[in-house]
Amino acid sequence: MKKVLSGIQPSGQLTIGNYIGAIQNFVRLQETHECYFMVVDLHAITVPQEPAALREQSQSVAALYLAAGIDPQRAAIYMQSHVRAHAELGWLLTTLTSMGELERMTQFKDKSAGKESVGAGLFVYPALMAADILVYNADLVPVGDDQKQHLELTRDLANRFNSRFGDFFTVPEPYIPEVGARIMSLDDASKKMSKSNPNPGSLIALLDEPDVIRKKISRATTDSGREIRFDREAKPEVSNLMGIYSLMSGLSLPEIEARFEGQGYGPFKKELAERVVAVLEPLQQRYREIRSSGMLEEVLKQGAEKASSVADRVVEGVKERMGFLRG
Ligand code: TYM
Repeated sequence: MKKVLSGIQPSGQLTIGNYIGAIQNFVRLQETHECYFMVVDLHAITVPQEPAALREQSQSVAALYLAAGIDPQRAAIYMQSHVRAHAELGWLLTTLTSMGELERMTQFKDKSAGKESVGAGLFVYPALMAADILVYNADLVPVGDDQKQHLELTRDLANRFNSRFGDFFTVPEPYIPEVGARIMSLDDASKKMSKSNPNPGSLIALLDEPDVIRKKISRATTDSGREIRFDREAKPEVSNLMGIYSLMSGLSLPEIEARFEGQGYGPFKKELAERVVAVLEPLQQRYREIRSSGMLEEVLKQGAEKASSVADRVVEGVKERMGFLRG
């Protein structure tokens, strides 16, 4: 069975961007693949995190995985920091990565822009991400569009290792949805919706109350026209909302255009809000049940055991090929 690996940072409230770009595909892929889905806490600390907030967000992301329908009997769900092989392979791969490659990463450029002091962890972040993937010899990595460049570096590092030390790593493929790979901010369609955006009106959090969702969608920026038409260039805001509508309802873009022909933005936004609420309300209900059930600890423990049993062997193989003595 082919292997799938992905992760989400516990660095803020997850958004419908994370849901549509990543989690929805995790749920689908578990049917046909051997899956590893982690909460990447080691990545989250590349920017400062309050310990209490990190603990809460970590549990929250794990519970959202379950609430969204990831089945711990099928997929391993775990904390990145519980599987030590990630940090170990991360270091080994850092030594194969050049400064120039890391300097070219647009996510690093964005996150470090204008900062007086930038942590070295933020800089070497992509080497750890490569380790996350290669440590299982994953075939497929479901992510949103913003992670494409990190995936390309991962592929380069796999090929580099293989040509220096002999064929070993699987070179992974990205799995990026066609619609939904880049959900944009509600207040500015030139920026991606991001859990680290300090303006709550820019995003819909998976745990937003239904009335908050309704309000945010009714206030979302549109253009001065009234036509519901998908055209990213001419109508970026409406196209973004249509993408969300499509992924929350299963309707295609032409079906949505036909449905709202001649109706203007008001009725479209109202129905969009109800579609989003219809997906998120039951998810939130399951989330609350999972958080109060006390089941998370056991799920994470089993997930980490399963993941470690694969990852530890891969790290041993890497170390042997690189010339380390057996411990
Ligand atoms: P993170 O935590 O920023 O985001 C988690 C996932 O959500 C996707 N995503 C989006 N998709 C569509 N529209 C958006 N607006 C949007 N915002 C976020 C991201 O592309 C991602 O798939 N570096 C990764 C975490 C990571 C990882 C890994 C992923 C660490 N190791 C190994 C895959 C494999 C990140 O910061 O994702």
